[in-house]
Amino acid sequence: MASDLDRVLDRIDGDIDAALERLFSVLRIKSVSTDPAFAKECAACAAWHVEDLKSIGFEAMAHATPGHPIVVGHDRSTSGKSVLFYGHYDVQPTDPLNLWDHDPFEPFIETRKDGTKAIRGRGSSDDKGQVMTFVEACRAWKAVTGRLPVGITVLLEGEEETGGVNLPPFLASHADELRADVGLICDTNMWDARTPAIQTMLRGLCNDEVTIRAADRDLHSGFYGNAAANPNAVLVRILASLRDETGRVTLPGFYEGVPELPEALKADWQKLPFDEKAFLGAVGLSEPAGEKGRSVLEMVWSRPTCEITGIGGGYQGEGFKTVIPSVASAKVSFRLVFDQDPETVRAAFRAHVQKLLPPDCEASFIKHGGSRAVRFPVDAPSFAKARAALAEEWGREAFFIGGGGSIPVTGLIKEKLGMDVVLAGFALEDDRIHSPNEKYELESFRRGIRSWARILDAFSR
Ligand code: BES
Ligand code: MN
Repeated sequence: MASDLDRVLDRIDGDIDAALERLFSVLRIKSVSTDPAFAKECAACAAWHVEDLKSIGFEAMAHATPGHPIVVGHDRSTSGKSVLFYGHYDVQPTDPLNLWDHDPFEPFIETRKDGTKAIRGRGSSDDKGQVMTFVEACRAWKAVTGRLPVGITVLLEGEEETGGVNLPPFLASHADELRADVGLICDTNMWDARTPAIQTMLRGLCNDEVTIRAADRDLHSGFYGNAAANPNAVLVRILASLRDETGRVTLPGFYEGVPELPEALKADWQKLPFDEKAFLGAVGLSEPAGEKGRSVLEMVWSRPTCEITGIGGGYQGEGFKTVIPSVASAKVSFRLVFDQDPETVRAAFRAHVQKLLPPDCEASFIKHGGSRAVRFPVDAPSFAKARAALAEEWGREAFFIGGGGSIPVTGLIKEKLGMDVVLAGFALEDDRIHSPNEKYELESFRRGIRSWARILDAFSR
């Protein structure tokens, strides 16, 4: 006789077209969190999820915040083990729009020459497609058995992509309602299209914006050139001094709390079939640009970085304008590892800018969020169970991997709720998240749903 799990897996395959229709309806909602023009769409997206969760039998509501709503749904029809699933319903802006091959919010299935299929649209991968893999797994369990294998709380936020300030206090004030045995997040990548992965660490983040002002107006560069302080020149000198010629970040104390990798982990990573040349080659590069003497995996997984993510000052339009600008500004993003503290790094960065500021120049700063890095003890049973369930579905061992991106809530779940988080995602490196032409493989979606169905089953044992 077929087990409940077998029947659930069959149901998932049989229901895939309806599941895609549901995903398409949520992909059509333009929930761009960073742009206030889309606030209504963000609220509509939250409302969509509330209705959808209710339709599966969850008790769900959207909690208003000063920003976008936070959706919480509970299904406690099963006592015993419980999980908290986190995802985000907001998406990145679509610009530059002219680089899209289609309307970002009119999702469709693309069939390639080799017969493989991809779901196309903003959010198809990050994170709407991934969120729906979990929701669809719950739906299938409910449809087949009338219950879920474990107690489930779903938490969906609408400000992940903006490093929003409203989730941390919500976690603190709803800690008892949200606490469960383990956290689950579906917002990360597989190792490759055939090999599942659990990401066991995430980098933290410290984003800061600096503006340098000198003269009280833009100046004719002939009349004033040489005599007037030039904010563009001051800014680039300061920015260039953030790293030395070996690629190390120069801020005093920056590497405090950044240990060398444990030898065992280093050895594990060396065994991963990772090709540095191919990784860089895929985006048109050839030479690692970071700290000398480090592998590329170390650079992006276990070493901190300082990246200038935006820069502006002076005339940037067509043609040429002979002007010394009165202001220049830059956005600087630090990725943090191990025990680096975002606010200590921010203070060191600001002190560094102040120290290098010449006469007549003034610096001001805008804080754009920060989060600590996080690492999980992967010998806990939930990790082994999830790993085995993934291997069952994909027919291959799941890798425990590091990762370069950040999901700020993860550290808070650990800190404020005391829970480990299993980060299992089905996105691929070439999904173009945050970029034009974002996609999610249909197989990521289908087998992602099946993977969660198996993981929930494994957790119930
Ligand atoms: N889902 C990504 C991060 C990610 C992708 C982590 C793949 C691991 C593997 C997430 O939505 C994201 O982009 N986060 C931002 C955080 C920020 C805007 C606060 C990031 O990493 O830049
Ligand atoms: Mn994401």
